[in-house]
Amino acid sequence: MKPKYFTASLLPLAAIALAHAQATSPMLLQRGYEAAAGEPGRADRGQVFFTSRHGGEWSCASCHGQRPTGAGRHAVTNKPLDPLAPAFNPKAFTDERRVEKWFRRNCKDVVQRECSAAEKADVLAWLQTLR
Ligand code: HEC
Repeated sequence: MKPKYFTASLLPLAAIALAHAQATSPMLLQRGYEAAAGEPGRADRGQVFFTSRHGGEWSCASCHGQRPTGAGRHAVTNKPLDPLAPAFNPKAFTDERRVEKWFRRNCKDVVQRECSAAEKADVLAWLQTLR
């Protein structure tokens, strides 16, 4: 169960939520992950997580770039990817279903498991420091 304050923080967005059931924001998502992890996200840890290979072939940066403020390039298909940093991509982290789908898929590719709530909170904390 999500702690109460996360649910409460969503109430002002009820109108938007009705219009678009999955609408969210980077800050709301981060708060949710932090609540689930029981600690605040840490940007320094997020950067290390994002740029490290976790015993596999790829890091998150392999596709998204070391500093995902510009377009990434898919390591396999070479297709361009939108910047992940919210300051450079207003659509990033605004659709919860999409975010969860890609976290699930990409974390399996990179860390061979799903990312923990703490890891997601760290990555989001870091991405939001990029200006
Ligand atoms: C093999 C290439 C690849 C790797 C490695 C990868 N990603 Fe992605 N990621 C993608 C693609 C493709 C998308 C969809 C982006 C698009 O359509 O522009 C995406 C999208 C995302 C999104 C959705 C953003 C949004 O709001 O739309 C998140 C979050 C994300 N990636 C996080 C990560 C994290 C964290 C890692 C490391 C654990 C990672 N990715 C590693 C290819 C990759």
